[in-house]
Amino acid sequence: MSGPFDLTGRTAVVTGGGRGIGRGITEALLGAGADVVILSRSDVPADLRDHAEGLGRTLSWYALDLFDPDGIDAVAAEVLAVHRIDILVNNAGTQERAPAADFPLEVWDRVLDVNLRAVFQLCQLFGRPMLERGDGKIVNLASLLSFQGGITIPAYAASKGAVAQLTKALCNEWSGRGVNVNAVAPGYFATDMNTALMNDRVRLEQLSVRIPAGRWGTPDDIGDVVVFLAAPAAIYVHGQVLAVDGGWLAR
Ligand SMILES: NC(=O)c1ccc[n+]([C@@H]2O[C@H](COP(=O)([O-])OP(=O)(O)OC[C@H]3O[C@@H](n4cnc5c(N)ncnc54)[C@H](OP(=O)(O)O)[C@@H]3O)[C@@H](O)[C@H]2O)c1
Repeated sequence: MSGPFDLTGRTAVVTGGGRGIGRGITEALLGAGADVVILSRSDVPADLRDHAEGLGRTLSWYALDLFDPDGIDAVAAEVLAVHRIDILVNNAGTQERAPAADFPLEVWDRVLDVNLRAVFQLCQLFGRPMLERGDGKIVNLASLLSFQGGITIPAYAASKGAVAQLTKALCNEWSGRGVNVNAVAPGYFATDMNTALMNDRVRLEQLSVRIPAGRWGTPDDIGDVVVFLAAPAAIYVHGQVLAVDGGWLAR
């Protein structure tokens, strides 16, 4: 039975959908009835494949390093030859830490390539057929660092600020053509990306006590918010950067 949060019959691409926040997004989309295509460097874990099979959903995986623009072109063509993609979730991201004065330019380029250029390229490649059909949903992963500058992560902060602005720019061109472009901005989530922060007991304590909700986020906290943005319920939601941060930005 269809409803405002039902994604039955829809197919979603999720970059980096096999682990971390991406896995939470994949599980939520599968739970809402969607089939999912994961693009990432590492293969999908067997238990996630079993989970999809148990739900009667199709879960596919294509190997892709988002650093490689030619690879993105080739994989997108391969995916589009087989699937009609209704939903694109640009989840994959990378973070490198170093003081700004010493931040290597080649690392800057790598972070910007994966977190920004690849996001735009995927929006173009999967967005064009959505625009032709007049129907599609794009959800980008922004960050608290879309709003704040952070410390020792200048490339990441610059890339996530740009993802927020790109989301609004695409909204302005595509919302009238049936394609919703929005972003979610996670707060602090205990994933591999935050290993360095979590290993720094002082910084961990400073961050944790500042979160009004009193806890770090889990991938499930993001997954259902992405389902909302990808579902009929959010048909009139365009160009938003929705913080899912336990209240961090309100403080
Ligand atoms: N964790 C947080 O607190 C937090 C806060 C705000 C925003 N975010 C954002 O949320 C998203 C997911 O973060 P996370 O915490 O789940 O990170 P994570 O645990 O480090 O996972 C990163 C994901 O991105 C994929 N990825 C990274 N580089 C890639 C590349 N070059 N090519 C293809 N895939 C690549 C990885 O897949 P493979 O390794 O298999 O390629 C993995 O699935 C990111 O955009 C991140 O910036 C996270």
